[in-house]
Amino acid sequence: MKKLVEILPDKQALIERSLTLVLEKMQSAIQERGQCTLALSGGSTPKPLYEALAEQPLPWEKIQVFWGDERYVPSDHPESNQRMARQAWLDRVSIPAANIHPMPTSAGDPARDAQNYETELQQWFKLHSGEVPVFDIVLLGIGDDGHTASLFPRTEALKVSDRLVTVGNKDGQPRLTFTARLINQARCVIFLVAGESKRPALKQIFAPSGDEMTYPARLVQPKGELWWLLDKAAGAELNST
Ligand code: 6PG
Repeated sequence: MKKLVEILPDKQALIERSLTLVLEKMQSAIQERGQCTLALSGGSTPKPLYEALAEQPLPWEKIQVFWGDERYVPSDHPESNQRMARQAWLDRVSIPAANIHPMPTSAGDPARDAQNYETELQQWFKLHSGEVPVFDIVLLGIGDDGHTASLFPRTEALKVSDRLVTVGNKDGQPRLTFTARLINQARCVIFLVAGESKRPALKQIFAPSGDEMTYPARLVQPKGELWWLLDKAAGAELNST
């Protein structure tokens, strides 16, 4: 794993930097493998990045979009990560519908939908059971509590080591989430973190030692590159490399 930390002066600079990094990783994936596989994070931070991506002249047919986590709500629900990314970006570009792979939330059973998405990943990546897909880019955020994706502190999802997708739990509300096992196969993981409220969790995540059950983002140790793009409000007390 190669860890890189950049602290940007403000949120606008953070978004601009994240755009250049994502575009760079997309273009190298397309040059090397003919396509780019990208897993999106939800929440509010990445929305301006998605809006900026919608303005880019990219070979959309070569870009495959997945989600790293999803609230267990209908796709038209205000809380849906799929809905946010479609409105900010995907509905605004000519990306083929077949290149968009949302997490299913319609089975009425989060565990069944988690299995459905795991099966979809295995089929799409043409893998045998037990093999783990290697995403070109996984975008992540962190919550004030140190969660990432929908891997929340002290939940069973953190212990899942034999799956690609599992059921997360936020205050009793089910979510679907990539497992740490899947995230950590990625060629490039990019954390996008903004705001002073993230500062305490970042200090714990960056500490030389700490409890992964309390700060799940500590579980993210990808085989490839690990990028932390922070605005100064979030990362003021950390040393950037
Ligand atoms: C989600 C996200 C989640 C998010 C963090 C940060 O579904 O909410 O995937 O992990 O990245 O909660 O959210 P903000 O960007 O809104 O602070």
